[in-house]
Amino acid sequence: MRAEELLTIARSVAVTAGELAARRRSEGVEIAASKSSPEDVVTLADREVEALIRSLLADARPQDGFFGEESEADVGSSGLTWVVDPIDGTVNYLYGVPHYAVSIAVVEGGPDPLTWMALAGAVVNPAISEVFTATRGGGAFLGERRLAVVAAELPLALVGTGFAYLAERRREQADTLVGLVGEVRDIRRSGTASLDLCSVACGRLNAYYESGLKPWDHAAGALIAAEAGARVTGWGGAPASQDFILAAPPTLAATLETLLAGQSTHSRSLPAAPPVG
Ligand code: IPD
Ligand code: CA
Repeated sequence: MRAEELLTIARSVAVTAGELAARRRSEGVEIAASKSSPEDVVTLADREVEALIRSLLADARPQDGFFGEESEADVGSSGLTWVVDPIDGTVNYLYGVPHYAVSIAVVEGGPDPLTWMALAGAVVNPAISEVFTATRGGGAFLGERRLAVVAAELPLALVGTGFAYLAERRREQADTLVGLVGEVRDIRRSGTASLDLCSVACGRLNAYYESGLKPWDHAAGALIAAEAGARVTGWGGAPASQDFILAAPPTLAATLETLLAGQSTHSRSLPAAPPVG
C-alpha cells in the first residue's frame, strides 16, 4: 500500500479518535491509574481512545502490527506497525489545557525507532482542530498548507523541550536547561512532545529536544518535522530514540547538539527510565 493511502487511514482514525478525546474532555476527566510515578497518570479516556484507534486500524489493516501507549503490542504479519499515542499531553488533558494530541504513525519494521522507517503520520490537536500530516518523501502539512521549518541563529532560536515524569531525571534535565537558557531567545515547555515536533515543522518553534521520550511520543511528529526540512536526530547522528531526540533546521541542529552534549554529560549517564506499565 502506498504511503498516501496509509496516511488517509492515519488521518481519518486520528480525527475520529480526537473527536472522542474532546468529547470525553468536555464531560470531565477521570484518572484511571498512575504509571512510572504518581505524576505519570493514565485517564479512562486514554484507554478508551486507544481501544477505538486499535479497532479502527484492525478493521482497515488487519495484518499490520500495533504498538500503543496503553495496550499490549501485536507484531502483525505485514511488516508494517502502527505506533500510537492516544492522548499525548495527558497532563494538559487532565488540567483542561487545550494542547494535547492524538498521534498515529505507520512504520516499516517493528516498534524500535532505531530500526524502523516511518512512512506516514498524523498528529491531531482536537482542542483547536489542527491536523498535521506527512508521508515519507511527500512533505508535511498543517491541513492543506505545506510546512517548512524556520531557521534561526542560536541566540534568536525559540527552543522547545520537555521533562520526564521521574523527579530525579527532571532535576538533571533542568541542569541541562540552565546551560542553554541564556544562549537562546527563550524556552518553551508545551507538555505535548508530538505537537512540539509539529511546531518545529511549522515554525512555531525553531528547535525542540528531549530525552526519555517513548516511541509513540515521537513516531508521527518526527516524520512531520523531517518532511518540513528539520534534521531529526539522536546523539552523534544516531536515529532519534528514548536516549535523545533533537529536531531543528540542519545548521541550528548541529550547534544545539554540540551545546547540549556539553551540558548533559551527566544526564546521559543516568539509567534509562523504567518501562511504562
Ligand atoms: C509526555 C508529553 C510531554 C513529554 C513527556 C511525555 P504523555 O507524554 O509528550 O510533553 O515531555 O516526556 O511523556 O505522558 O502526555 O503521553
Ligand atoms: Ca505521549
